[in-house]
Amino acid sequence: MKKKIAIITGITGQDGSYLAELLLKKKYIVHGLKRRSSLFNTERIDHLMLDRNIFQNKNFFLHHADMTDSSSINYLISKIKPDEIYNLAAQSHVAVSFEQPEYTANSDALGPLRILEAIKNLNLIKKTKFYQASTSELYGNSDKKFQDETTKFSPSSPYATAKLYAHWTTINYRESYGIFAVNGILFNHESPRRGETFVSRKIIIGLTKIKLGLQDYMTIGNLEASRDWGHAIDYVEMMWKMLQQKTPEDFVISTGKTYTVRQFINYACKYLSIKILWQGEGLNEYCIDRSTGKKIIVVDKKHFRPNEVHYLRGRSKQAQKKLKWKPKYNFKKIIEEMVDSELKRFK
Ligand code: NAP
Ligand code: GDD
Repeated sequence: MKKKIAIITGITGQDGSYLAELLLKKKYIVHGLKRRSSLFNTERIDHLMLDRNIFQNKNFFLHHADMTDSSSINYLISKIKPDEIYNLAAQSHVAVSFEQPEYTANSDALGPLRILEAIKNLNLIKKTKFYQASTSELYGNSDKKFQDETTKFSPSSPYATAKLYAHWTTINYRESYGIFAVNGILFNHESPRRGETFVSRKIIIGLTKIKLGLQDYMTIGNLEASRDWGHAIDYVEMMWKMLQQKTPEDFVISTGKTYTVRQFINYACKYLSIKILWQGEGLNEYCIDRSTGKKIIVVDKKHFRPNEVHYLRGRSKQAQKKLKWKPKYNFKKIIEEMVDSELKRFK
């Protein structure tokens, strides 16, 4: 059988690296798009590049391209003529989007538009399926206890407004031109490969270093923000499944459970056998290690955002029914895997 060909934008990121592994296991030919950087940025996929089987079989290719650069995107899509495109590339940090709103809009809103235009203009409408990395950030501060495919969007950051444009553009190209284009509305998903400035990985790195005596304390922002935390390995499988459906449809992927940043810290400390005590309030709150009496976590207002999304909790009934969605990881297992991985790295 002829091998399927996929393009993954954002292949050097957390999700891109896991998705590349999954597609290679499924015998795809994978073309990854990476942007140029002054230092190597392929740490998460180096193991694939070094795998002789993958490279010798000519199953895995990397190309330079940027979501802000139509010519590189058009050129690669016209040359590769993929069966599937997974658009995972984005300026994906919500806090950073307040500092770089224009760049965020260019890469996260116009980037997907550039890909969809290429599919349309290169006569690939019948051939190329498109997956857009949409997000639970679209819901902003929804007043619903659970958010699903029917919940009203209320984006509250430049990141979320850019992603909302991409979300509707994806639907618009599906309805206007018949492109098999879908949005995966994914809630937060983490892993040992999570970027180091997202709160989960930041907490785990900080606490592990504190435990090993490599750092005295760490700073943190809003402890009460509540997120529906899943594992990236579970979530990339759903991206693939969405493109294998008979008809294109958008899906919410979430665990249905929500935990605060404080609960995340509490469980990570428990797993690391650090006995803690929270003291103070609001911006004066901190956490001490009971065994030493020293402050190990301090709230710092520099980590607060101009606008915060306080509560996210997804409901994935459609995905459970149609994609057979059933996550293998739960909240505790994610934290345990992340801690174990960090302990191994620092020891
Ligand atoms: P990530 O680790 O931050 O990876 C983002 C990827 O995009 C990286 O490969 C990055 O390259 C690349 N990139 C950024 N700007 C680019 C540009 N202008 N041109 C080309 N490539 C660019 O993000 P992730 O956690 O894997 O998330 C994947 C996608 O899902 C993102 O679109 C994100 O917004 C969305 N999403 C994520 C979550 C989540 O919880 N993880 C939830 C919902 C939606 P470098 O490696 O060079 O930085
Ligand atoms: N990054 C960070 N750093 N966040 C902190 C900190 C801190 O020191 N302290 C508290 N937080 C809070 C944030 O204010 C937010 O409410 C929550 O922790 C999670 O922050 P992040 O881990 O940065 O993720 P996010 O929820 O803003 O965005 C992630 O998930 C979205 C899906 O809901 C990103 O992966 C987005 O790309 C994704 O779309």
